[in-house]
Parts: sequence; structure tokens; C-alpha cells
Amino acid sequence: MRVSSSTAAAADVAADTVVVGLIEGEGVPHDVGDGVLAALVASGEARSAPRSLAVTHAGGRRWILVGLGKRESLDGEGIRVAAAVAHGRARELGTRTLCWELPHRARELHPARAVVEGTLLAAYRFDAFKSSRKSEEADDDGGIAELIVSDHSDQTDAVARAAVVAEAVNAARDLQNTPANAMTPTALGRRAQALAAAHDTLTCEVEGRDGIVRRGMGAFAAVAAGTDEEPALITLRYEPTSGAADGTPVLGFVGKGVTFDAGGISIKPSSGMADMKYDMSGAAAVIEALGAIAALQLPIRVVGVVGATENLLGPRAMKPGDVVTSAAGLTIQIDNTDAEGRLVLADCLHHARDLGAERLVDLATLTGAIYSALGRLYSGYWADGEAWGAELAAAAEDAGELIWRMPLHERYAELIKGATADLTNLAPLRTGAPNTAAEFLHRFTGDLPWVHLDICGTAWDSGRPYAPKGGTGVGVRTLVALAERSSSASMRDQASADAAAS
Ligand code: BES
Ligand code: MN
Ligand code: ZN
Repeated sequence: MRVSSSTAAAADVAADTVVVGLIEGEGVPHDVGDGVLAALVASGEARSAPRSLAVTHAGGRRWILVGLGKRESLDGEGIRVAAAVAHGRARELGTRTLCWELPHRARELHPARAVVEGTLLAAYRFDAFKSSRKSEEADDDGGIAELIVSDHSDQTDAVARAAVVAEAVNAARDLQNTPANAMTPTALGRRAQALAAAHDTLTCEVEGRDGIVRRGMGAFAAVAAGTDEEPALITLRYEPTSGAADGTPVLGFVGKGVTFDAGGISIKPSSGMADMKYDMSGAAAVIEALGAIAALQLPIRVVGVVGATENLLGPRAMKPGDVVTSAAGLTIQIDNTDAEGRLVLADCLHHARDLGAERLVDLATLTGAIYSALGRLYSGYWADGEAWGAELAAAAEDAGELIWRMPLHERYAELIKGATADLTNLAPLRTGAPNTAAEFLHRFTGDLPWVHLDICGTAWDSGRPYAPKGGTGVGVRTLVALAERSSSASMRDQASADAAAS
């Protein structure tokens, strides 16, 4: 879908359909004809209740009125949802060019961003494996070809930024939804390499089994030992051309890239196992966020590290009771081969530090228990470093992704101390699995500020109108917002330091 903006009134934009949001008690912002829209409201057909829809015709085009609810409870998510439901109706009606008239006096909600995200995310389809697929281009499959955002003020930058981010989220969804026999570690690596090829500022290195073993990544290698499929240690580096401000920290994004998790010798039950293709959702978020950051040319350095492998049950697979040595030197007794994510991440977190990351964020579909606790609403997050945790929370808020703080505690850490090795990968049953998993990772982050996000619940089938089924691309929006915040915060600090020095 092409996306652009216009300061012309919606009635004058070349579009076959216009969407107007209705806020309770406020009537329509601009009417058409001799009050067609107001009449639709007066008749009770068009309502301001969130998600309600009404359609009429005037001035040679279709008008969709969508409810936005009460002004005081309206937020970016409300606008995203309105854009998603309006998109659904517009698509049914055969719309080719859609114009959205942004709600007035709502600048602090970033309405252009919400409309573009809601529309592009709702338009997402995954049909790469359907033989009846007509074309990759929405233009040819009857979908909406163009979105034009109309506002009194110039929204060019906000619209362009939102389109880049929404496309990155959809690209992450493609990686998640692609079946594991196609989305192998090698294929994930190829996607990272393709992004690097598209941006001069982005470089990518992919190492296979030999490299992982040579680097002493015994924990990662143990997970990969159970499959013939070549694992991949994927490293992406983003270096802005304009340069980062002095003192801007290097961000390290780390993603769990288990392209299929059968559980290993501690095999999972067969029901629902097909979904285990999405155990690479953290990796998808890291890779596509780096692509978006490069496209947006943000003035900050970022390294991305992805550990990609299958977790299967081959003749060389790791076995319960095995002891392995991580790249950091800590030894780990493997008490359950299904707690593989932390093994992969342990070595990847260490690697990110080696590469010079100064602030860490990892994203992983790590524990089913976080899904039980928080459902598909909130990702859990754990933070070492209050300032960095607050930055991440603010970034998630900017991005409109929900996260909920979970505890780190020395007494959780005690539960993953090993009997024969330094650590065990399995804490006793019912002792707070998501927290003990976080404490396991914590042992590999040194003294760097670090946030861990467990996205097991939020990465899939969120049921939001703009992400109903399959991969959600969760994390991309937060990581991009984090990079934006971190770059502008340090630019501010830099500017004030410069001012103080002169
Ligand atoms: N990949 C799973 C977690 C998961 C569960 C992701 C459901 C998506 C949907 C992870 O590797 C895992 O198996 N975790 C175990 C940990 C346990 C053995 C400590 C779990 O949550 O049961
Ligand atoms: Mn597992
Ligand atoms: Zn897993």
C-alpha cells in the first residue's frame, strides 16, 4: 500500500473513500454536501461508540464514519483500532484509494502514526504458501492500493516514519508465520543479509555451527546439536552515516531465534506443537527493528545479535543431565532440554557485550508461564538498571505496546544454582518460571543495564483488530521507539554539555 499525506481537505483529496472519526458529543469536523454526515449522525446510524461504522455517499465518494469514543478516554490504541476496523469495511466496499481525515485537537496522541499503523497492520495478509495467491501487490488482489492522511498541518514526516515501522512489523510477521521448514536459521540469516544489502549503514555477519563452536558458545551449540539444520549466529551492526552524538550508548538488541521448538529430548506434547514455529519471534523483532532503524537513519549505534537454531531430538541431541560450558565460562547443567531459549540467549547476550553493546534488551518467547500470567495483553519485562528500565517502559508506551514489570530477586537466582555445575537451566516446579528464567539470563549480562522481554503470550494471535491471527510482530515498534528515544536523549544531553562547555 502506498502511503502519503495531504494538507488538502478530505473532500478535495483524490480518493474514492474517506474515513472520518466520531468523538462523542462533538459531531462531524467538516461536513459535505448539505450536511450529509451530520444527518447520518442525527439519524443515529453513525455512532461515536468505539468500532461502530456507518457508510454514506456524497460528493462523488464514499464516507465511512467510525466511532472513536469519548475524547478523554481516546488514546493512540483507540485510533489504531478505529483505523483497523475502518480498513476492513473499506476493503469490503472495494476501496482503492482511502483518505483518513485525522481527528482534530489530538496531536499528543500522534494520530497520523496510529492511523497509518492501524491501516497497514490490518491490511496484512499471509498467503505466501497459497497456490491461489494472485500477486504480491495489494494493487492486484482487490486490496486498498493507497492511503492518504489528511490533516490541517503537515504530516509528511510522521506518516513516512509510521509506514516504515508498520512495514517492519509486517515483515517480522512474515518471518513468524513462515513455516519452520522454510524459515530455517539460514533463511533468517538471509533476511538479515538482505536488509544489510539494502542499507549502507547496516552490516551483517552469519556464522554457522563451526563458528558457534569455535567461539566457545557451548550452550548455544548444545541446543543446535539435536538438528542437522545449520544453526546461525546472526550479527547486525548499524552505524549511522551522520554519526552518533558523543556519549550516545551503543544499544544491543538480542533475539531468541528458535525456528522450531520440539522441546528436544524433553519433548513437548504434540497438541499445539505446530505453533512452535513462532519461537523465533524475538529474532524477527530484532532483525526488522534494525532494518527500520537503518531506514529511518536514526543517529545511534545498534548491534543486533540473533541466535537461530531448531530444538530437535537427533542422535547427537543434548540430554537431560548434560553439562555444557557457555562462552562466558559459566557451566550449565541441562535439566530440561525444553528450557533451551535461555541456553541460546546466554551465549548471545555475552556476544552482544563482546561486540561493545552498552545497554542490552533481549526479546524471547521464553516461558509458557508468562502467557498464563499475562495472557496475550502484556509482555513481561525485567530490568536491571532503573533508568534503562524506565526508558524501555517509556518506549513501549510511545509505541503503544503493553509491557508489565516482573521481579528480579536474589532468591529467584538461588533457584537456578546448579548441583554439579554453576547453573541449572531448570528451577524447581512452581517457583516462578518466568522470573527464574530471567535470573538465568541475568547471569550473562554483567553489569550492563539490561531489560528482558518475555513475549511468549504477545507474539501470537493477539486478537487485536489489526493483529487477529498468527504473528503479531510484537517488539518492533518498541525497539524502534527505544532507539529514537535513546538517540534524542543523548543528543539533548550532548547539546546541554556543549552549552555548558562554551
Ligand atoms: N518456546 C517455549 C516457550 C513457549 C511456550 C513459546 C508456548 C510459545 C508458546 C520455551 O522454550 C519453553 O519450552 N519453555 C518451557 C520452560 C520450562 C521447561 C522451564 C515452558 O515454558 O514450559
Ligand atoms: Mn522450549
Ligand atoms: Zn523455546
